[in-house]
Amino acid sequence: MNEYVPGLEGVPATRSNISHIDGEQGVLAYRGYPIAELAEHSSFEETALLLLDGQLPTTQELADFDTQLRTNRRMKYNIRAMMKSLPSSGHPMEMLQTAVASLGMFYPGRERLTGPNAWEDLEYVHGMSVRIIARMATLVAMWEHIRNGYDPVEPRTDLNHAENFLYMLTGEDPDPFFAKVLDVSLVLHAEHTINASTFAALVAGSTLATPSAVVAVAIGTLFGPLHGGANQKVVEMLAEIGAPDKAKPWLDKQLAAKGKIWGMGHREYKVKDPRAIILQRLMEKMVDYQGGKVSPLFETALALEEAAVERLGPKGVYPNVDYYSGILYAEMGIPGDQFTSIFAMARCAGWLAHWREQLRYNRIFRPTQMYTGEDVRSYVPIKQR
Ligand code: COA
Repeated sequence: MNEYVPGLEGVPATRSNISHIDGEQGVLAYRGYPIAELAEHSSFEETALLLLDGQLPTTQELADFDTQLRTNRRMKYNIRAMMKSLPSSGHPMEMLQTAVASLGMFYPGRERLTGPNAWEDLEYVHGMSVRIIARMATLVAMWEHIRNGYDPVEPRTDLNHAENFLYMLTGEDPDPFFAKVLDVSLVLHAEHTINASTFAALVAGSTLATPSAVVAVAIGTLFGPLHGGANQKVVEMLAEIGAPDKAKPWLDKQLAAKGKIWGMGHREYKVKDPRAIILQRLMEKMVDYQGGKVSPLFETALALEEAAVERLGPKGVYPNVDYYSGILYAEMGIPGDQFTSIFAMARCAGWLAHWREQLRYNRIFRPTQMYTGEDVRSYVPIKQR
């Protein structure tokens, strides 16, 4: 094959049975289960295990996995000390990438990946997946306190994953409605086929790098505003617009300047992202829950969507997952620069599921290129140039 496809659009990079998208129909399913059904009936813990193992767990399997997550929330003292030495002005995703990369130094086992059938070594492969999924939430919450000069809040084992995260983030008993909203959001963000960060994870995994290195690579890739970083940009954009009646003139100006509308457009979807539909409904419930007292962000987002769909809909550009998620998190009092870290906390389940699948059928990624440089030529000594 000699055709170069920018951005590898439409080029299959792997075979996978973890999730699939129908971008014309607006369908997303994890292991065959539609995302709307998982959002309604499942939990982050169950969805993560579904992604990792391939089938819905039994009551006992889910209880065991939940216990493993609850007992893996605490962080080594040295990682906390390392976090304290990082600049508080740094972005939380940079902290997260650094801290997750360091986990490999505390939980050795890289030699187990070079043995035969490493994917079957579940003590390591599943054990590391649990450690990383449980601790990602701990790290994100810890950083909120450390960067503000406080000691982090210790995790609790009597709370589920979403509840414990909110407890650790705020130091207060979690609001049950907020915890449910977060849990659904984590389900929605847990997996999404071969997006940029999952592809990066596959490339790293194909070299038999450790799972902490694989996830650190993926975190760095998710950070960019064209990918997970868009959720922070959306709320900044809506705050800049300021009010619903300013949305249309702002859009016209932005498009005339060839600027982006953050949280809109997707390589795979040509219709509204099914996750955006669910998050928008959750935000409507949030408005009811707050007795209508919410910031103008949501109304501004609705007005911007209406205007943008008129202009961009013919190109297949509609709201994606990042359009409404940040508005929900902002309503819960979560700082804007933590939104992408929450995305990462969820997506690590998908990254690790793909890592395990990659190990099973591994062949190192080594694509080729179309060389556009000079022909071979003789070196010119510096005085003759
Ligand atoms: N705002 C304005 N125009 C957009 C747009 C957006 N957010 N997303 C796509 N478009 C337009 C492009 O300008 C292009 O128009 P053209 O054909 O007239 O040149 C067309 O739609 C196709 O877009 P393209 O950039 O080729 O799509 P892509 O598949 O390469 O990129 C994204 C996909 C997600 C990177 C892109 O839609 C984007 O930058 N979105 C904003 C960032 C974002 O929300 N990312 C999170 C994704 S979950």
